[in-house]
Amino acid sequence: MRDAVIVEAVRTPVGKRNGGLSGVHPTELSAHVLKSLVSRAGIDPVLVDDVIWGCVSQIGEQTYDIARNAVLSAGWPESVPGTTVDRQCGSSQQAVHFAAAGLVAGHYDVVVAGGVESMSRVPMGSSVNGMDPLGEDYRARYGSPNQGVGAELIAEKWGLSRTQLDEFAIRSHERAAAAQDEGRFDAQIAPVDAPEGRVTQDEGIRRGGTVEGLANLKTPFKADGVVSAGNASQISDGSAALLMMTAEKAAELGLKPLARVHSVALAGDDPVKMLTAPIPATKKLLERSGLRLDEIGVFEINEAFAPVPLAWQIEIGADEKLLNPLGGAIALGHPLGGSGARIMTTMLHHMKDNGIRYGLQSMCEGGGQANATVLELL
Ligand SMILES: CC(C)(COP(=O)(O)OP(=O)(O)OC[C@H]1O[C@@H](n2cnc3c(N)ncnc32)[C@H](O)[C@@H]1OP(=O)(O)O)[C@@H](O)C(=O)NCCC(=O)NCCS
Repeated sequence: MRDAVIVEAVRTPVGKRNGGLSGVHPTELSAHVLKSLVSRAGIDPVLVDDVIWGCVSQIGEQTYDIARNAVLSAGWPESVPGTTVDRQCGSSQQAVHFAAAGLVAGHYDVVVAGGVESMSRVPMGSSVNGMDPLGEDYRARYGSPNQGVGAELIAEKWGLSRTQLDEFAIRSHERAAAAQDEGRFDAQIAPVDAPEGRVTQDEGIRRGGTVEGLANLKTPFKADGVVSAGNASQISDGSAALLMMTAEKAAELGLKPLARVHSVALAGDDPVKMLTAPIPATKKLLERSGLRLDEIGVFEINEAFAPVPLAWQIEIGADEKLLNPLGGAIALGHPLGGSGARIMTTMLHHMKDNGIRYGLQSMCEGGGQANATVLELL
């Protein structure tokens, strides 16, 4: 039986909007993690059967199959192909799923999964380009959903107050700051020599914030709402990648796998609330994996907006201490197409550092979908 293992995982620091990474072309940001990945693993990139790359706004600098352009920018052999995937915010988590499926099916022996987004250079929504991506039939059924409005609807449905959201946001920053101070991101970050200088650390973390301070921020999605810039994910630039292969190939190359892709699931849910599908995806995944909740030692649920992990926690009942233990996208940022791989890289290093056998990741996605993955430490 063929399987899918992860041998190496690396990411750029996550840059703030118009911050240290905004001067770097997204193809070059992608190429940077590709080069770091093979140099850390010590393999010849000629072995890579495919590069599967998440990217959401595939327009301008991120169009024309950025995966292939990154391969060539990285100086890799012309024989290495690349394909670009869009499952909205979960695009690079989906890249991992496609890579795992391709390994198990025998389509690949060695494959790279990852993704990128430069939201400074290619703003969120710019791929709409003045057109209607939904069409009349869709609009007749659902109107024009918006993720921030979806987050407000979730807060309302699960009875989440502004204070609860802001407390969660403060906790995200505090956990991320502690992890940064303890050097817990260092091994997973490949610093970037950007035009404005070397970027070595995640730029979004704010220290010393208070719930009282956050309470003053505007609620852009609803008058008298609860979702603000303080409890939403940040607009960011970043890229991350995982080197995957079969266990057999890893043994042949003398590489020690870090983890295997234990099980995966997908779910679709209400596209208007938009961000609830991690709940059914997690339930489906727990059932499929045969694992009990208490066997899982870390949960990474993307902090697109604070109501998403909070509603998930209410429904799933996971221990709050195990949920996003190093902070999440509220503090670290959310470079859309790169986030799935960024989160998996962070989760995998956390599992390795702490000897955690099982980790579960899920992300909400535009259109009301979610990917969910369980990794098993080897
Ligand atoms: C919520 C959102 C619209 C806010 O955008 P914005 O108004 O441009 O946000 P800013 O970063 O400029 O922050 C607004 C203000 O809040 C302040 N702020 C943000 N986070 C803060 C924090 N943790 N503590 C204190 N102040 C904070 C900023 O400093 C800024 O203050 P200023 O106006 O005095 O400069 C935007 O961040 C967003 O869309 N996030 C979600 C992205 C998304 O949808 N991703 C996909 C997920 S489905």
